[in-house]
Amino acid sequence: MREKIILALDVPTKEQAVEIIRSVKDFVAAFKIGLQLFTAAGSEFVRELTSSGLKIFLDLKFHDIPNTVAKAGVEVAKLGVWMFNVHALGGAEMMRRTVEEVTNFCESKNLEKPKILGVTVLTSADDETLKQIGIKHSTEDAVRNLAVLSAQCGLDGVVASPHEIKSIRDSVERNDFLIVTPGIRPSFATAEDQKRVMTPKEAISLGVDYIVIGRPVLQSLNPKAALEKILVEIQ
Ligand code: C5P
Repeated sequence: MREKIILALDVPTKEQAVEIIRSVKDFVAAFKIGLQLFTAAGSEFVRELTSSGLKIFLDLKFHDIPNTVAKAGVEVAKLGVWMFNVHALGGAEMMRRTVEEVTNFCESKNLEKPKILGVTVLTSADDETLKQIGIKHSTEDAVRNLAVLSAQCGLDGVVASPHEIKSIRDSVERNDFLIVTPGIRPSFATAEDQKRVMTPKEAISLGVDYIVIGRPVLQSLNPKAALEKILVEIQ
């Protein structure tokens, strides 16, 4: 079951990240580096981790013009990460260009292509959040549309809330399409700013490929014990 867990390294320093990695690396499949740690520790730190054999999901959620995102994607591929993501809201051309340029670059250098995911709607957002920014669809419809578009553009999968797993599986006809879900809260944790949450056990039973967990583990006094508790919950 540890093969399903991605731990979000949402900490402010490289030293804290290294300490957590050391204590829990045998309990997770991969580590996620997001905006906070990337801004603090930089791309060299990412390279150090990938060089030591760790699987890294670089969660920088690119959203810019197609050329900029595609070129950033190539730089990410050079870092040797296992997975990275772009906002599906950036549109079809942005996603297609990124897939094409990253694939061509990796083929020309004989590198393994990182998996590229589309972020659908953030798990901290709900129908009200979408209304505020002028999107009239429900979160469920918006996620489904963005997941279908991501699949059509050749992305390897999407990031979505566990509540949308079923509707994505029903609407995307690719068996290899990955679904990665944050917004995971074990029975012992609180939701914080996440709005569309679910327990790890429920998410896995709905057929998710990977669950991303951050604060329920990081804010616990003993992250290793928290992960062990989650693994027991899942089994
Ligand atoms: O602490 P928590 O378990 O809520 O962490 C979830 C992680 O997943 C955070 O790093 C957050 O940035 C990320 N994430 C998310 N929703 C998305 C994509 C990424 O919560 N749609």
